[in-house]
Amino acid sequence: MKILGIETSCDETAASIIKGEKNDSKVKVLKSSIATSLSLHSKTGGIIPEIAARQQIKYILPVIENVLESEKNIDAIAVTMGPGLVGSLIVGIETAKTFSLLLKKPIIPVNHLMGHIYANFISDPSNNPNKEIQFPAIVLIASGGHTELLLMEKHGKIKWIGGTRDDAAGEAFDKIARLLGLSYPGGPVIEETAKKGNPDVFRLPRPMIGSGDFDFSFSGLKTAVLKEINIIKTKLQSKSENLSKEVIANLCASVEQSVIDVLVNKTFKAAQKYKVKSILLSGGVTSNKNLREQFKLEMENLKSEIGLFVPPPYLCTDNASMIASAAFFNFNPIPFEKITVKPDLYFK
Ligand code: KG4
Ligand code: ZN
Repeated sequence: MKILGIETSCDETAASIIKGEKNDSKVKVLKSSIATSLSLHSKTGGIIPEIAARQQIKYILPVIENVLESEKNIDAIAVTMGPGLVGSLIVGIETAKTFSLLLKKPIIPVNHLMGHIYANFISDPSNNPNKEIQFPAIVLIASGGHTELLLMEKHGKIKWIGGTRDDAAGEAFDKIARLLGLSYPGGPVIEETAKKGNPDVFRLPRPMIGSGDFDFSFSGLKTAVLKEINIIKTKLQSKSENLSKEVIANLCASVEQSVIDVLVNKTFKAAQKYKVKSILLSGGVTSNKNLREQFKLEMENLKSEIGLFVPPPYLCTDNASMIASAAFFNFNPIPFEKITVKPDLYFK
């Protein structure tokens, strides 16, 4: 079976065709195309929904044309219905409905967060290829809008066990980057800047690390960074003087380490509590190199038999292959007239 995936929840416009057969444990990507309006948002320090939606309209047909060019025969269409920006989502949903009607193919609406999880079910040589994903599994989703821990018992049976009470991990990176005068999105810039920094110069909090549950809170981290910036600024000669490159690098390294410590700690606690066989990482934040390495390290330290799975970075951030993958493993077509956007879609 071949599925055309369409993803337009935020600032990426993506189409992909995946292939999977009955009883396959992973799907293959046949063709993928992605356009992004990121450069427009980096100038404004964040996403302006109206601009993102207009760019979706500009890119949606070219990316679909790109993938259909070489793979004409598809069996179904998968599209993100939410969560996300309403204007961006509408572009993908309405385009998917039109293609479904014209090509007479079933359409499967997909929860974007499920999509992130299902990036783990796409075959890629870098994602623990010698080990099969076994259930039950603990899933960490760390993206721009979400930080969630889930217990996945099997395909289609996923239980939410905890999540952020305020800012998501990615959101914290984005907001802190802004405080430090760095560009949007914050995660990749903080990762890059942190390479020159020392994470031990500033001792930032590890929010809720010992809370005993699986919830997160990252907004305090932003406040802690602001406090450090204010202390440093009082020591500067004049108010207009900028923070030094060294201070910014040290702050970035501390922020990155704080987020990683919390995510690693809580994910492993959940894995131990639920006695799982696999840990699946997903979402844009898990494309962070240090995070990926420190998860592996913790696995080695604990001499754990649990399988650790993390998609390659290009499948951690938003893409359409993960949407098609989610639809393949949860094949549930809906009459197109019943499909609407769900900007606030969640798990609970
Ligand atoms: O999953 P994603 O692409 O989109 C959402 O569904 O939100 O995640 C985007 C988030 C942004 O907040 C971005 O700053 C963060 O992922 N991110 C990173 C890295 N790359 C993207 N955070 C840390 N390190 C990275 N390398
Ligand atoms: Zn996403």
